[in-house]
Amino acid sequence: MMSANNDFQTWSFAIQQQMELTLGAVLPSPAVLPQRLHEAMRYAVLGGGKRVRPLLVFAAGELVEASVERLQYAGSALEMIHAYSLVHDDMPCMDDDVLRRGKPTVHVEFDEATALLAGDALQTAAFEVLAGHKVCDKAEDQVAMLKILANASGAAGMAGGQAIDLASVGKALTLPELEHMHILKTGALIRASVLLGSYCGTPLDGGQRERLDRFAKLIGLAFQVVDDILDVEADTATLGKTAGKDAANDKPTYVSLLGLKEARERAAELEASALDALSVFGERARRLREVAHFIVHRAF
Ligand code: IPE
Ligand code: IPE
Ligand code: MG
Ligand code: MG
Ligand code: MG
Repeated sequence: MMSANNDFQTWSFAIQQQMELTLGAVLPSPAVLPQRLHEAMRYAVLGGGKRVRPLLVFAAGELVEASVERLQYAGSALEMIHAYSLVHDDMPCMDDDVLRRGKPTVHVEFDEATALLAGDALQTAAFEVLAGHKVCDKAEDQVAMLKILANASGAAGMAGGQAIDLASVGKALTLPELEHMHILKTGALIRASVLLGSYCGTPLDGGQRERLDRFAKLIGLAFQVVDDILDVEADTATLGKTAGKDAANDKPTYVSLLGLKEARERAAELEASALDALSVFGERARRLREVAHFIVHRAF
């Protein structure tokens, strides 16, 4: 018999492979003009990354018996928004990073203007994918899904969190301020991943949706707490991005504010509360529990 851990590895690897194929198919061809832009978009998205957001889409999809095809499109939209956020996050005007997913960042491999445009085009491509395929039963729910993704990506979500991040360089934030920044810059897209997956199948009732949303918010915050910890604890080769970058850029993080030990405790508390929120779903939430465990205990 396979161990539970092995089984998660098999499941997640299969999704990562499916996502590579779907993303490869929905991204514009490098043989078509403007080739350099298309190459940069594909470079940013394909051949790397943990695909945590699609894993959450698929795990939430298991709660509602969603079809694989719908989950692939929803997962692609999330991953394209995420990849766009990374391309811009790495640019000299933001975190100024040269390494991402074990490769030179997009602005280093191509140039800054191309990185800017690749991010822009990935963002709109994500909405094209989510709007252009049937990803749930009712048209009105599909509009709701588009709105969830837009809200999570924009000023009330990722982009807003990134603005706070940049405005906070060199500042000592309070814990509530730091938490707010993390909820926006990373938590919002993680939360959206869970919610969008749950829209792809049989609708949940109000109470269930509330529990799932609670899980999604908690695990979204946990994700960035762990990202902060890994920036200090892990090495560049393991991370595939420059370790120690937060301290070098004087960013307030969970580690700078609480220290490593307390930051780790905070991540564990968030995981426990997130798992608690899933109790109403029983065995159907097994994959969500596994992805939550992966998010908190990952090595990169
Ligand atoms: C890194 O995200 C950036 C954050 C939002 C913290 P991931 O850790 O999901 O990066 P990839 O997709 O695996 O490269
Ligand atoms: C980035 O946070 C969050 C995004 C919205 C991309 P970080 O700046 O900490 O992400 P990494 O550590 O560079 O991946
Ligand atoms: Mg950043
Ligand atoms: Mg960064
Ligand atoms: Mg980081």
